[in-house]
Order: sequence, then C-alpha cells, then structure tokens
Amino acid sequence: MTRSVGILGMGCYVPEKVVTNFDLEKIVDTNDQWIQERTGIKERHIAAPEEATSDLAYNAAVKALAAANVKPEDIDLVIVGTATSDHNWPSTACILQDRLGCTKAAAFDLTAGCSGFVYNLAVASQMVKTGLYNHVLIVGAETLSRIINWKDRNTCVLFGDGAGAAVIGVVEDGYGVLGIDLGSDGSGMKFLVQPSGGSREPASHETVDKAGHTIHMSGQDVFKFAVKVMGKTALQAIENAGMQPEDIDWLIPHQANMRIITAAAKRLKMPMEKVWVNVDKYANTSAASIPIAMCEAIEAGALKKGDNIVLDGFGAGLTWAAIVLKWAI
Ligand code: ACO
Repeated sequence: MTRSVGILGMGCYVPEKVVTNFDLEKIVDTNDQWIQERTGIKERHIAAPEEATSDLAYNAAVKALAAANVKPEDIDLVIVGTATSDHNWPSTACILQDRLGCTKAAAFDLTAGCSGFVYNLAVASQMVKTGLYNHVLIVGAETLSRIINWKDRNTCVLFGDGAGAAVIGVVEDGYGVLGIDLGSDGSGMKFLVQPSGGSREPASHETVDKAGHTIHMSGQDVFKFAVKVMGKTALQAIENAGMQPEDIDWLIPHQANMRIITAAAKRLKMPMEKVWVNVDKYANTSAASIPIAMCEAIEAGALKKGDNIVLDGFGAGLTWAAIVLKWAI
C-alpha cells in the first residue's frame, strides 16, 4: 500500500538580537528607504557570538519534535539544509543528532542554498514513502551573518539568521506531499558563491584579505533568475500534484525579496492575501526562510487541515524547488 507522507509537526527559532535597517545605516552607505523599497526588509535577527548553526537548529528541532509528539530516539534520519554549517565537516546534522539524542538516526547535510528545506522535504518524504524510514527530522538552519561582508552594502542588508524544523512521517491517506519539482542550473554558480575555503581556493591570508570567505553575489542576475524560476517551478509542482493554481490555498515562498515574491504570486495569479510574507522581519534566512514562514502561519492559525499549500524556493547553485502539500495536521 502506498504511504501518504507529510509534516507531523514544526518548530522554528530566531536569535534574540534584532538589527534594523537604521542600525545598518551606521555601518555602510545605505538607508532604510532604499532597503525597504528594493527588498521589503525592515529588520533581521543575528546570532549571538556563541551561537552556531547547530544551536539554532537544535532550538527549532526540539520544538518540532514536541509539536509532532515524536521522541528523539524514534527519528530514523536527520537532514540539515544549510550553507553555513558549524564546520566544513563533519556535518551539522551529526552534531544535531548527538545533541538531540536521536540515537538510531542516520544524519547528513544537504546543500541547495535557499532551496535547502524544500529539497530536504523532497528527499525525506520519498524515504518515508518507500518504507525505508518512519520519521525523518528535516531542518533549514543558517548563520549567514558569519559569512556576510559587512563592508558590502550590496549584500549585507539582505540576510538574517534563523532555523526551522519539521518532523516528516506517515499522514492520513491523500494528505501530505502531493507534487514535487526540483531543479538546478550550475552554470549560474558564479552569481551566488562563497568563493574561498573549499578545495578550489583553500583558506589563506590572501583569501581572507580579499574577503573570499564571504557571500559574493550578482544581485541582478539572481533577481532575474528568481523571477523566472519561482513561478515556473511552482506551476510544475502544481501540475505534478494533478491540481490547478486555483486549487492552492497558500503560497509560502522563499523570503528573499518582496519584489520576487510579488512576481511569483502574479505568475500563479494568487492574490497577496494567500501569500505568506515575513521578509520584513527576518530578511533572507536562506534554507530557514520557508520553515520559519510555515511556523508563523501555523501559529497564526492560518493553515487549516486540508489546505493545499505550495512551498516555493530558489537559491545558490543555482537551484529551485517547489512542493505541493495537502496540510495534514
Ligand atoms: N543601499 C543603498 N544603495 C544600494 C545598496 C544599499 N544597500 N545596495 C546597492 N545599492 C545601489 C547600487 O550600488 C546601485 O547604485 P548605482 O546605480 O549608483 O550603481 C543601485 O543601488 C542599484 O543597484 P542594483 O543592484 O541595480 O539594485 P536592484 O534593484 O537590482 O536591487 C537587490 C538589488 C536588492 C540585491 C536585488 O537585485 C535582489 O534582490 N536580487 C536577488 C538577491 C537574492 O535574492 N539573493 C539571495 C539568493 S538566495 C540564496 O541562496 C542565499
């Protein structure tokens, strides 16, 4: 018998410290009006010096396990989507597995930039669907503040830190993940990259001097790509689910830029009342942005059992990912 697979419970966490656009005006040549008009961002949360990505992930995961009523020892696999792992290796997922006490779980990180959480959900749902596993903990967690060049106004205003987690398992028949579309175009890797610190450009005094360990981004190229791909991947996932755009109750997009979100909604002919937006409060938290938005929507009581939801992301790689879920809880 085919298993229906979906989200059993979610949790999210953002660090306490809030940095507003006005705070950024004091460190780079920018202003609140420019940032709000071009991106929709007002403020972002930034991790404390002692907080690493696994700490944010842990706080989100504890809440997700409680919401799902699943014990750590019943988790079969932990997948962390992140571009800012605690260390290059071992994986942040292993650190999380140990700290949570997921004693029987396998663990790995998945790198798909801001599409990370949706990629995670695709992988986890298929592993549960086949019967290989019963419970998978997926996390999107980032401390992008650690790789921001705080002298580059083109990028430092765009990002924030945070984490979101979900427990994936078997749900009522006909609910859960109904359609998936994933994709990549590595020819665009140069548009969004942390150039140094890997095998191509190992860390050296020179790489530090040229800020090679920070985010390098061609904003306009990423913007054009995002506007093109967000609508397209969402429409494909909707078609794969055997649905029409008018069947969708909520669009939960990656929160990078208000103009990109509006363009995606327009392509899907979704009124903005059906689009969950929180980019103003958290900025772009990469792999954490979609699960944080989902947690907010759950807390607000916006997601009702049976609602059809599209998760819609794009990110470094370049990658894109959309999933249609029939909300099961
Ligand atoms: N404050 C003030 N002025 C600024 C700032 C700033 N923070 N940043 C750039 N400017 C200036 C530029 O220098 C430029 O000035 P000039 O005309 O004198 O040269 C002017 O503003 C316009 O710059 P553009 O880059 O053309 O501005 P644009 O409208 O494209 O907006 C932005 C830039 C917001 C970065 C946009 O391109 C964007 O959102 N791109 C997508 C980025 C994104 O989503 N990245 C995340 C990807 S997901 C992941 O995996 C992490």
